Amino acid sequence: MLNSKIIGVGHYVPERVITNHDLEQWMDTSDEWIRERTGIITRHWVKEGDTVSGLGLEAAKKALDHAGLKAEDIDFIIFASMASDHDFPGAGCFLQEKMGLPGVPSMDIRNACTGFIYALSTADKFIKTGTYKNILVVGAEIQSTGLDLSTRGRDMAVLFGDGAGAVVVTATEEKDKGILTTHLHADGRFAKKLWCEWPSVTHHPRITKEMCETDRIYPKMEGRFVFKYAVTYFPQVVQEALEATGYSVEDIDLFIPHQANQRITEAVAQRLGLPWEKVVSNIHKYGNTTAASIPIAMSEAFQEGRIKDGDLVCLAAFGAGFTWGSVLMRW
Ligand code: UT7
Repeated sequence: MLNSKIIGVGHYVPERVITNHDLEQWMDTSDEWIRERTGIITRHWVKEGDTVSGLGLEAAKKALDHAGLKAEDIDFIIFASMASDHDFPGAGCFLQEKMGLPGVPSMDIRNACTGFIYALSTADKFIKTGTYKNILVVGAEIQSTGLDLSTRGRDMAVLFGDGAGAVVVTATEEKDKGILTTHLHADGRFAKKLWCEWPSVTHHPRITKEMCETDRIYPKMEGRFVFKYAVTYFPQVVQEALEATGYSVEDIDLFIPHQANQRITEAVAQRLGLPWEKVVSNIHKYGNTTAASIPIAMSEAFQEGRIKDGDLVCLAAFGAGFTWGSVLMRW
């Protein structure tokens, strides 16, 4: 029986830093409100011409270096993102072209903030069934170009950042290392609690000049509603992973949650009874980078020496859909 194990991690964020004070110039908001309600101080936004596959490529190169592999060693790419370089195809094919891997399968996963968990879980299954040996899993996002930067859109605009993280997952015969369990969930009854309505195929044509003059082309969220479900489902799906493997919260060495809001992360840690030193939080620097947030946080935690050989590492996410999920692994 093969196991799947992460052997390389890397991340990349665009150079352009946007502070809360920068946002104050464009909309009626304040550094104080953003820090208190979200914990965010800065986020990185792309410049004109940047692509989400390009961000993914930079992260992928670092993950490959760390794994000691070359692009040609990759036999499957999974790209988690809400964005693509163009309306279609998905960013996975644009990344595959940039990596010079014609013929290698490339799959896109569009599960918002839970995208990376869905992608890693998919990679795990393809490895455990013996289908592929080395899988590149990327979580990358460009949110900044789709936000309403006026006061009308301030509740969403202050939250999001751009960036990418990547991991190389490989097949191993080691029995006690690697991904131990993965758990995925969705509840489409709440799809419209966090969504972007237009463009939409229900309209003929799907995008019009008139649409662009309304706020319905921008992402919308019922913040408090989403918050309530996030702090319920995050701990639940972590407990599910622990129950499946027979571990308890005390066994977790490091918890890497999707970075949605500092207050959500603190509430989840408290509900689980996890001491803060076991929790990774970098939202103050990057904001919410959707599918990129977990691999960026994992890569930083690794660089900072916070993940050591043999550690029990737990990942969890919650986001639009609603979707949520967890991964428990022995590093
Ligand atoms: O990653 C996917 C999952 N996402 C999440 O889990 C996010 C969950 N939700 C949240 O993190 C929080 O609900 C937010 C950070 C989005 C909002 O924080 P909140 O404490 O729930 O604020 P609120 O939406 O209830 O708004 C409070 C007030 C409102 O004014 P009134 O009605 O009290 O006068 C808003 O209009 O804050 C106002 N407000 C702002 N003020 C300054 C909303 N956005 C801003 C802003 N700057 N950017």
